[in-house]
Amino acid sequence: MYKIVKKRKLYENIKEIKVEAPLVAREAKPGQFVIVKIDEKGERIPLTIADFDRKKGTVRIIFLEIGKTTKQLGMLNEGDTLATFSGPLGKPSAIKKYGTVVCIGGGVGIASLYPIVRALKEKGNKVISILGARTKDLLILENEIKEYCDEFYITTDDGSKGKKGLVTDALQELIDKQIKIDLVMAVGPVIMMKAVSELTKPYGIKTLVSLNPIMVDGTGMCGSCRVTVGGETKFACVDGPEFDGHKVDFDNLLIRNKRFLEEEGLSLKLFLRKHWQGDDHEY
Ligand SMILES: Cc1cc2nc3c(=O)[nH]c(=O)nc-3n(C[C@H](O)[C@H](O)[C@H](O)COP(=O)(O)OP(=O)(O)OC[C@H]3O[C@@H](n4cnc5c(N)ncnc54)[C@H](O)[C@@H]3O)c2cc1C
Ligand code: FES
Repeated sequence: MYKIVKKRKLYENIKEIKVEAPLVAREAKPGQFVIVKIDEKGERIPLTIADFDRKKGTVRIIFLEIGKTTKQLGMLNEGDTLATFSGPLGKPSAIKKYGTVVCIGGGVGIASLYPIVRALKEKGNKVISILGARTKDLLILENEIKEYCDEFYITTDDGSKGKKGLVTDALQELIDKQIKIDLVMAVGPVIMMKAVSELTKPYGIKTLVSLNPIMVDGTGMCGSCRVTVGGETKFACVDGPEFDGHKVDFDNLLIRNKRFLEEEGLSLKLFLRKHWQGDDHEY
């Protein structure tokens, strides 16, 4: 059992928890994830390691309550336990000295970006970050990320903070200034990573994206997380989750991520009914 030692609400439906998991904390590297199962009957969901403290033996995860399992996770409190917290899984981010790296985070993907930004800075890169969200309240970890950046930009869809527009608008401005960019690293919604990759491709700027297909085992056995990269089938849980954005078939990923929409909607509906009406049926 893995104990939740700290819980914080970052926004209405965005929560941060720190979990006591010394073995995961000891091995964790930026870009890796864990598979979480709340109780014995629960589903397994992947969540990125948003930070780790090797001394305290804790791992931080930040999640958006989007469906049944993330809502249930958000209802847990300090002192509650998780049945499974497996990891670290996936290949770590390719952290090395590139020169100038533009790190782009969208929505809750910003949480995954934080340890990557820190590690890239510690390797001696010039780090420029662009964080984007629909509105200012959804911007997370702004100050933590800023601390490791040489330049820092914010975009919001509604203009409530930073520049009104998309992260790609801010990236285009950097490109137009003729700054030599050695790498772009993008983590966020699939549609955002697709747009970033399409923007950088004609300029030949190497671009890495962190993919979020539906995962089950997280160890390369079930095939659920298969993605097409450079015409080849890859399993994001073991071959990724980071891939060359110029080679990813994003449209295929967008379609595959919608394949259980009906079941997911029903599962959430039944869970909430059970929660609010005390219906004790097992779903
Ligand atoms: C490597 C990786 C890292 C991730 N890191 C984070 C993170 O740090 N924070 C965060 O908020 N989210 C993260 N996600 C997405 C997160 O796993 C899903 O939001 C979560 O599984 C949704 O489960 P649910 O039951 O609450 O919602 P559901 O109703 O089951 O699903 C809502 C949406 O989430 C996606 N999803 C559902 N089940 C899975 C699954 N098993 N694996 C992946 N996606 C799924 C589907 O596209 C679906 O449309 C990550 C996904 C991957 C693959
Ligand atoms: S999640 Fe099963 S193969 Fe990747």
